[in-house]
Amino acid sequence: MIFADVLVIGSGAAGLSFALKIAQEDGNLKVVIATKADGGESNTKYAQGGIAVVVDKTDSFENHVQDTLIAGAGVCDESVVRMVVEEAPQRLKEIRKWGADFDLNKDGKLDLGKEGGHGENRIVHHKDVTGLEISQKLLIQICKTKNITLLDHHYAIDLITEHHLTKKAEQKKLTCFGAYVLDVKSGEIETILSKATMLACGGLGQVYAHTTNPLVATGDGIAMAYRAKARIKDIEFIQFHPTALYLPEESPSFLISEAVRGEGAFIRTKSGERFMKKYDARLELASRDIVAKAIDTELKMNGDSCVYLDCKHLEIKKFKQHFPNIYEKCLSIGINIKIDEIPVVPAVHYSCGGVDVDKNGQTSITNLFSSGECSRTGLHGANRLASNSLLEALVYSNRSQRAVKEILPTIKLSENVPDWDEEGTITPKERVIISHNRKQLQAIMSDYVGIVKSNDRLKRAHKRVYGLYQEVEELYGKSKVSVQLCELRNLITASYLITQSLRQEKNQGVFFNSDLE
Ligand code: FAD
Ligand code: SIN
Repeated sequence: MIFADVLVIGSGAAGLSFALKIAQEDGNLKVVIATKADGGESNTKYAQGGIAVVVDKTDSFENHVQDTLIAGAGVCDESVVRMVVEEAPQRLKEIRKWGADFDLNKDGKLDLGKEGGHGENRIVHHKDVTGLEISQKLLIQICKTKNITLLDHHYAIDLITEHHLTKKAEQKKLTCFGAYVLDVKSGEIETILSKATMLACGGLGQVYAHTTNPLVATGDGIAMAYRAKARIKDIEFIQFHPTALYLPEESPSFLISEAVRGEGAFIRTKSGERFMKKYDARLELASRDIVAKAIDTELKMNGDSCVYLDCKHLEIKKFKQHFPNIYEKCLSIGINIKIDEIPVVPAVHYSCGGVDVDKNGQTSITNLFSSGECSRTGLHGANRLASNSLLEALVYSNRSQRAVKEILPTIKLSENVPDWDEEGTITPKERVIISHNRKQLQAIMSDYVGIVKSNDRLKRAHKRVYGLYQEVEELYGKSKVSVQLCELRNLITASYLITQSLRQEKNQGVFFNSDLE
């Protein structure tokens, strides 16, 4: 058994900033981070555009609040939106203090990019690799902080609650005592007991065949919380990014940042039409739900496989300075953005919903907190405004840290938690069943639960996902646990929750069912 004051699951912006803050505030606390791959692997690592923060005098908190509310299509919690927007400058100051470097303009002020749905330039960025910069600088600080232990290649299987203490747990209010974690290299399952647990497992893009999310984004946090009986909310709001590079053989999809459109790039059909004028007065800088749906409509109408991002008219020197990563990626596949247009398609990008939390990141389970993409705070409503996600992670990790600090002295480690009870005995000789089911699930979700949904397709998806659920539960019951099997199980749980959106009665934000028209 491993004992910790605080267990953090996940090492993206949410998990790392939370761990750092709580460990730095009290050097006597023992903080353990369990993360399933390398410490640096996460959605955070791939974030391009930046962080939305009001820093310019010509901008205002009110402008940022209104842009967020409009993008969220009436589903945001306005008090949460105000709180996050107003706390943003402090969090920016803090990550700069931790070493994160952001681009400056020629006057030495922060260079502010623009993205869809924003009425002002307010995206603070590090070229087009903002997430990598943040992740690396946070990891450097983590390594220097003696009371943090980072366990990489440690996969959290399940949260520990009263259900593991007694099979008859009937309590209405459950408590989290830590997690069962698989040491991927040794194959051992460790019990990590903690007074407070922070669930920061990121997104679920891998539920779909085409996503900008890396392989680790398998909805583990949401699925673990659901099994532990935490409240999950708004999970039907799956956001598609309008402009992922169209390279069907490449997975995950490479993102062409929305900030490129912020610099003035156009979207055209194969025949050259700048079609956004038919859909929204903000043209290419309408919010993501609108641009992604417009592209989907055009592709279906014209029978094309992709649309094109036209950057030919942009100043190349400036483009290379702001977007060196995108420029190089395009060149590597023979696209010179000064001469050629970039083929793009929408791809699954972000989960607006997740584990429901209050303003301190407290979930419906005692001593279990959640921050970042796997949580649902009320900030995004039915459609996240661009670059509000890293911001949400930093603000909620900071707030959770304060709340956890308050309650820690009152919590004792539980003494009667049993070790992991491995029911299964079989180690599947072939992984093909698992990989086949993962592909099948991704095909079901991509074909039936895409940008435009219908009752019939949702019903079929729900039924097929349930079939896979039964098959995989049976396999899980008799097999020794493995990362592949646990991830498949979690992807199925996340899909099951998404396809329940059949109950959604209104089209809002990213949720669009043609039968509700
Ligand atoms: P993540 O960064 O995804 O971290 C989750 C961590 O949990 C990972 O370390 C993962 O390995 C670990 N983990 C998962 N499951 C387990 C488990 N079972 N056991 C142990 N560890 C586990 N947002 C913006 O605001 N601005 C942007 O410019 C931007 N650009 C983006 C570009 C791309 C290509 C992508 C994919 C996303 C982008 N986003 C952007 C969204 C944003 O990056 C994420 O929402 C945000 O980084 C999430 O942070 P997080 O800490 O919650 O999760
Ligand atoms: C992008 O750079 O387009 C991604 C921004 C985001 O997801 O917020």
